[in-house]
Amino acid sequence: MKRAKWIALICVVMLSVGTLSGCGSAEDDRRVIRIGHNQSTSHPTHIGLTAFADYINENLGDKYKVEVYPSELLGSQTEMVQLTQTGAIDFVVASNAIMETFSSNYQIFNLPYLFASSEAYHAAMDDPNVTDSIFLTTEQAGFIAVTWLDAGSRSFYTVNKPINSPSDLKGLKIRVQQSPTNVEMMRLLGGTATPMGFGDVYTALQSQIIDGAENNELALTDNGHGDVCKYYSYDMHQMVPDIVLANYDFLESLDEDERAVFDEGFQIINTVQREAWEEAVEAAKDKAQNEQGVEFLYPDTAPFQEAVMPLHESVLSENPELQPIYDLIQEYNAMYPSGE
Ligand code: GCU
Repeated sequence: MKRAKWIALICVVMLSVGTLSGCGSAEDDRRVIRIGHNQSTSHPTHIGLTAFADYINENLGDKYKVEVYPSELLGSQTEMVQLTQTGAIDFVVASNAIMETFSSNYQIFNLPYLFASSEAYHAAMDDPNVTDSIFLTTEQAGFIAVTWLDAGSRSFYTVNKPINSPSDLKGLKIRVQQSPTNVEMMRLLGGTATPMGFGDVYTALQSQIIDGAENNELALTDNGHGDVCKYYSYDMHQMVPDIVLANYDFLESLDEDERAVFDEGFQIINTVQREAWEEAVEAAKDKAQNEQGVEFLYPDTAPFQEAVMPLHESVLSENPELQPIYDLIQEYNAMYPSGE
């Protein structure tokens, strides 16, 4: 973790045990609620969280004060999940990818080509019968998920070699999120997985420690990856949601009326973020193409899909309790099939 982040983190931890006055707001007796995430302040996630902060501050502002910490200021996603677990902070936005190391049930939403279309993805993730049992699995560990956020679809992008088929990945080191499912996905596709935290990817690309990465279009612009990577191949191998996690004891400490306001607030994050998402993706594509000189490629996705399908079988056979959820997702896929 970088020095500035350590300082911010130490401030937060010390504030939470009430030992410090120099880092911020001990001026009133409102309970400060801290939310950490790893995106910029113009990212849809930050826009959604800001709407949440405004809503809580407007409705429960005599008692609570919500503060949103962007840009990995409080640490990497994994570190922030741990801080949420212990209650050092109250909320975090974490990619579903890293959640499988906390609860194996989260593996299901990391499966490549799980959702047939973005409509199927949205409808399935909005259905509590799909999400609830998974979102609550970490209660014993000290946190639960309160809503999900759209993180688009993930595709490969590379510094200097266009990816038109899985065979083009051979011999390439590709950054993936820190998840065993993602590592296995890369193995099945023939590339070499290099797991690392999001904040380290730009430098790794720039110094060519890795040959490419995989993410949605915003990583090109918001995180500058498009300054280094000139080919973005729409193989669309995953739609991995982001998950808003809350410290469980904090949620339990709310009375019924307060909890109702927070529940409404969680819905606001989801709606506002999703509305901002589509526009942000269009703007990112435009900027990447016209200002950063990124070439967008549209490979046949069938060979990618074929290569990774064994992962569905292995995850389901290791986690049979996921089968009914998987089947329900297939119903949404039938309802909203791929437009291709
Ligand atoms: C997306 C996602 C983040 C995640 C990142 C990554 O940006 O929204 O939550 O951390 O991908 O690839 O690590």
